[in-house]
Amino acid sequence: MSSKLIAPSILAADFGNLQRDIEMVNNSEADWFHIDIMDGVFVPNISYGMPVLDSITTHAKKTIDVHLMIIDPDRYIKTFADLGSNILTVHYEACTHLHRTLQAIKAEGMKAGVALNPHTNINVLEDTINDIDVVLIMSVNPGFGGQSFIENTYNKIKQLKELIIRKGAHTQIEIDGGVTNKNAKALVDCGADILVAGSYVFKSSEQLKTISDLKNLVNS
Ligand code: DX5
Ligand code: ZN
Repeated sequence: MSSKLIAPSILAADFGNLQRDIEMVNNSEADWFHIDIMDGVFVPNISYGMPVLDSITTHAKKTIDVHLMIIDPDRYIKTFADLGSNILTVHYEACTHLHRTLQAIKAEGMKAGVALNPHTNINVLEDTINDIDVVLIMSVNPGFGGQSFIENTYNKIKQLKELIIRKGAHTQIEIDGGVTNKNAKALVDCGADILVAGSYVFKSSEQLKTISDLKNLVNS
């Protein structure tokens, strides 16, 4: 069993001290940097864009996991590859030609991810699961950090795990939103491979310890 991964969400970092917070993640037991890109159209919020990601990748020494919450993401696949993204995740709900989008992401040398909103059933991935490196299950409605975890996520993880096994796929399962030490172990027990944590990590007074404890918890 490969180890379970922790991906701090930079959306919850202190943007006035961004380099400090990036170095904290570099020095921690976290595995990935989770980067939320929001356009104010697909979701009711605007986060940050290319210049900020460029600054992040200048300092970040771990996998760059970009979560695009934008309409028509095909327009920016090459841009995010050039900025140093390792994983590029698009929303199922934002893609008219998802299969083509996944191939385009891989053609740029990145891993391809698909995110599902809380209302989107796992079965929409029946015909694409073998082409997807990571499925990101939203455990809150996308757009904001600090929201409460949606309990139905556990059922979705189990359904997704069943689909992956049935299709012989090698897809990883990532959970995003409201992750804390209260639900982390149950999430990995259902089949999650990567947990995104924003507020829980960055609002902590002992960030390194919080990450370390979470990492130990999910790998215990
Ligand atoms: C929400 C984002 C999440 C967010 C998670 O739209 O996709 O990555 O940063 O934040 P927390 O962990 O605070 O729910
Ligand atoms: Zn995210």
